[in-house]
Amino acid sequence: MNNFTYYNPTKLIFGKGQVEQLKVEVPQYGKKVLLVYGGGSIKRNGLYDQVLAQLHEVGTVVFELAGVEPNPRLSTVRKGIEICKKEGIEFILAVGGGSVIDCTKAIAAGSKYDGDVWDFMTRKAAAKDALPFGTVLTLAATGSEMNSGSVITNWETNEKYGWGSPHVFPKFSILDPVNTFTVPKDQTIYGIVDMMSHVLEHYFHHVPGTITQDQWCESVLRTVIETAPKLLDDLENYDHRATILLNGTLALNGMLNMGYAGDWATHNIEHAVSAVYDIPHGGGLAILFPHWMMHVLDENVNRFKQLAVRVFDVDPEGKTDREVALEGISRLRDFWNRIGAPSRLADYDIGEENLELMSEKTVVYGEFGRFKKLNKEDSLEILRASL
Ligand code: NZQ
Ligand code: ZN
Repeated sequence: MNNFTYYNPTKLIFGKGQVEQLKVEVPQYGKKVLLVYGGGSIKRNGLYDQVLAQLHEVGTVVFELAGVEPNPRLSTVRKGIEICKKEGIEFILAVGGGSVIDCTKAIAAGSKYDGDVWDFMTRKAAAKDALPFGTVLTLAATGSEMNSGSVITNWETNEKYGWGSPHVFPKFSILDPVNTFTVPKDQTIYGIVDMMSHVLEHYFHHVPGTITQDQWCESVLRTVIETAPKLLDDLENYDHRATILLNGTLALNGMLNMGYAGDWATHNIEHAVSAVYDIPHGGGLAILFPHWMMHVLDENVNRFKQLAVRVFDVDPEGKTDREVALEGISRLRDFWNRIGAPSRLADYDIGEENLELMSEKTVVYGEFGRFKKLNKEDSLEILRASL
């Protein structure tokens, strides 16, 4: 494995009733708090009232930014920055899924920056500071609750970019599985696909000597595959929600990829698709990932074989390595189909029209993907295969 430094300062507060920790955590950072949330799910399930009760108990002055969109928009980030600067906000509390948290990260860094916050996403500037913030996570998917990444969409220019900074790790994240009970079936499925995709992005690399990390990845994948169907049959099952919630965090908090960097080409292509069509991130990944796999299979067939045997229980007896690898890919596709994830771009009414435009967007920063370097033509092929 390669040399590495593992650093993750986010305090993870996990379990039933942990929202009560807000009154311990928040006052450490200040009195004036901006509460950031999405389109209303937290009002419908009662979490909003619980959060406000905790904050009011310790005399917090609460400002609000509501209506963060799924695939959070730059325009909303700008609104948040304006409130923080105008009101002298000392701490931000994100209550929601990955979109609310990603938006909060951009607000936190943008509030300490004199230029345009979009500079961070377009790599013109790096964040040098940020307001402190914490999260109450309501959807298991992105891992944003315990990492320093964020993805923001500029809807005026149809651009969606990931960015990150060591300054935007949450100070704490409260993960109560009960707060995910109301996540609808489709969003639960997208979350499951997203966390599995994060592990798969890690898994495909060429760095030798990652025996432990491989088995961590395989363990997360096997656990999610075992638990997902049970959860989808029983959406308010605490233990299943807890298992999925924990694995979503582990999948992208930097631990599984100690000592190597994964591929991330499929995420790049998905971000290009959802920059043009406002589709759910996990839905896009379910469509694209198997086609990326087919496209790069021959780069290292053995890696795919290992996944097939260890995660998808493919019996290698009497088969070539390639046959085993292909069976693994097809079992992944079948699993996602079985739990109800989309499998074709046509499922989102996406046709040939913008393939060229989307593939151009994948190479804005040049060739991409570490397992295999891809160019615009590769993107086009993968997108065409996904129609
Ligand atoms: O907006 P509200 O009303 O809250 O509804 C949301 C939203 O409609 C709903 N929801 C969330 N928690 C709920 C709930 N509904 C009922 N009960 C609850 N408890 O779910 C919908 C989707 O929410 P969203 O936050 O958009 O989903 P997700 O967590 O999947 O985040 C997706 C975004 O994260 C980015 C994606 O690109 C996308 O923009 N990503 C961020 C990453 C990161 N920061 O590390 C990595 C990922 O790969 C990903 O790219
Ligand atoms: Zn993702």
